[in-house]
Amino acid sequence: MKKLSYLLAFIILFGGIKVKADEGMWLPIFLERLNYVDMEKMGLKLTPEEIYSVNNGSLKDAIVGLADGPTPQGFFCTAEIVSSEGLMFTNHHCGFGNIQKHSSVEHDYLADGFWAMSHDEELPNEGLSASILYRMEDITDSIIPNISDTLKGQDRSAAIKEITTRIKKNSSEDGKYNVVIKSFFSGNEYYMFVYEVFTDVRLVGAPPSSIGKFGGDTDNWMWPRHTGDFSIFRIYTAPDGSPADYAEENIPLVPKHFLPVNLDPIKANDFSMIWGFPGGTERNLTSSGIEFKVNNFYPPIIEGFGKKLEVWKEHMSNNQEVKIKYASKYAGTANGWKLFIGQMKGIKDLDLYNEKKAFEDSFQTWVEDDQARKEKYGDVLEVIYQSNKDKADGYSTLILASLSGMGGAELLGYASDFSALKSFMEGYKEEKDKKKKEKKLEQIDKEVAKLKEGITGQFENYDMETDEDVFAALTELYFTKVPKEMHPELLVDLVKKFKGNYNEIAAYVFEKSNFSTEAKVLAFLEKPSLKTLDKDPAFVLASEFRTSIMAASGNINRGGDEVKTANRLFVEGIREMQPDKKFYPDANSTLRFSYGKVLDYYPKDAVHFDYVTHLSGVIAKEDPENDEFIVPAKLVELYNNKDYGRYGQDDKMIVCYLSNNDITGGNSGSPVMNGNGELKGIAFDGNWEAMSSDIAFAPKLQRTIVVDINYVLFIIDKFAGAKHLIDELSIVVTPPAPMPLVEEAAVIIN
Ligand code: ARG
Repeated sequence: MKKLSYLLAFIILFGGIKVKADEGMWLPIFLERLNYVDMEKMGLKLTPEEIYSVNNGSLKDAIVGLADGPTPQGFFCTAEIVSSEGLMFTNHHCGFGNIQKHSSVEHDYLADGFWAMSHDEELPNEGLSASILYRMEDITDSIIPNISDTLKGQDRSAAIKEITTRIKKNSSEDGKYNVVIKSFFSGNEYYMFVYEVFTDVRLVGAPPSSIGKFGGDTDNWMWPRHTGDFSIFRIYTAPDGSPADYAEENIPLVPKHFLPVNLDPIKANDFSMIWGFPGGTERNLTSSGIEFKVNNFYPPIIEGFGKKLEVWKEHMSNNQEVKIKYASKYAGTANGWKLFIGQMKGIKDLDLYNEKKAFEDSFQTWVEDDQARKEKYGDVLEVIYQSNKDKADGYSTLILASLSGMGGAELLGYASDFSALKSFMEGYKEEKDKKKKEKKLEQIDKEVAKLKEGITGQFENYDMETDEDVFAALTELYFTKVPKEMHPELLVDLVKKFKGNYNEIAAYVFEKSNFSTEAKVLAFLEKPSLKTLDKDPAFVLASEFRTSIMAASGNINRGGDEVKTANRLFVEGIREMQPDKKFYPDANSTLRFSYGKVLDYYPKDAVHFDYVTHLSGVIAKEDPENDEFIVPAKLVELYNNKDYGRYGQDDKMIVCYLSNNDITGGNSGSPVMNGNGELKGIAFDGNWEAMSSDIAFAPKLQRTIVVDINYVLFIIDKFAGAKHLIDELSIVVTPPAPMPLVEEAAVIIN
């Protein structure tokens, strides 16, 4: 590998420290101070107040974080409000899990699409929440000065927690808002986010997967792309407009702001702004961190995920019911699997190790140059390096063991849900005091009721035969790849008993276990007994797997607090070293914006990728034999008739386009807007050549893949006939420039 010279590194550091407009996931409250001038130059027309305001409706009020569960944390996707009645656009792959839950062989909304033709037909989604940021605040000064530098580890966390708990309480306005506090820049800064969380979110529309997931896993993470990756939801509130759980009387949300939709054809270099909730990046990962990932982190995950996907795929292609039940689990795992493969490839192709190493070398030089700096930052990189080295081998084993043991068959995870019941029952058995015994019995009854409630959730998307094969494949992986000292006793016995035939082991475990069918679980819960639990092979295996994982993870030296401190100091040092550079914090599931422009790219030598794809490209990819590339007949007909309505241009229908915005997972579904804050498309993916973008931004190669809003509306209107939804939108089209006067025209002609 080539090593950059100090001089070159110095040039990179001090010569190129201006932030490129395209790089960065910026924090809304600093827009005016850090980015506004840049953005205005590039094409932004809105004022800062129109974008982020606490007192008046502004653009940020139309940006929604989607989460599983009622807290505004860990947003899996972004959505945007597009009508005065709380209508929301997001990606098809963001709605996928809920579309799947409403699907059955009789009503297969994944295959056929779903369109509510009136509010009554919109489908509630238990657990799904939509969060809108009311305000955010930099609270670093309430925290850092009150935390002594000598405080480390749990004491530090506890001191911080005490302060944040108080701040949260003071800011929730008696529970009206939900407050989240997060650390930024590796613990150097703290910000508070105050949200309104809506928990009645209903499914309104989704195209068939042959549009919404066109190209499937083959095209996933890649350009050129032809996917109509959108779905539609609506937020409902209590009749008084406040957030409320699902109730029939609820009404559509009246938003503080919604995005108009702009149908002007997209052009190269158009200003492009994206708002959303990127989940996580590690832009300050060190070279030793990269080594750790490539050697110890990705390989076991790729292996474990790959095995499971193989088994799932086989069962899904043989059985329609299994195909629907496993669609969402499969898509999620396949997406991650391909992401990790791509990240590994990107790290290698872009030579990120050496890029980081060169930067670290110059950092170290800067540190050594000054005694005070040397004392503060001198060993920071060494501490990080040592911790990566120390945990390396142990971590690989741990990941593989988790993925192939407890994380293998769903049966095992489910069986371990019964451990609390076991300890309650043991407590009851040992208790002598009559009164206390009664209390313990109540505890058991409560737990049994809870477990009964969980039965539907476990089995609604479960297929025992599929899971049995997953068990066989992953148990074999565990037994052959995980070191002997981590082998559960029962597993060793079973392998001996069945002479290494994993299918027979699986058959035995599933047959004997009380947790492999709904009927067996119900029967067990009618008469739960400790003896039965102790003899249940799935339950026993699950606890033994858990014990060995816990023991192994205890043995890994992660560097703990020391490394946390080192990471914090490294980031502090980087910022001190480059006082004129504008820094953006790593993504952490908080509201960010990124800006750039519509742009093509050159993926490799002699190859040019244009920035738009068209419906003709969908037709060219059509393959009725391949599930991923089927094109619905209606779409072919619209194409043949060039029946694009107002959404096509010059006989062409644009499907997707590219921009150089900086986004990551969690941004899926984010609005891509023009300088007026009007919706031009919905972001849904990144590209194969820059998969390592979470670790380093690659300006020449990194692109955001967007489904064009014209295609979205074309599918809603022309394909699905859901005109009532189009009528809800506020559509903007720039009128054509006025015709020149006759004399002028004559001049032009002449
Ligand atoms: N790669 C996209 C993301 O992580 C998901 C695309 C979903 N499509 C698919 N074919 N699985 O956001």
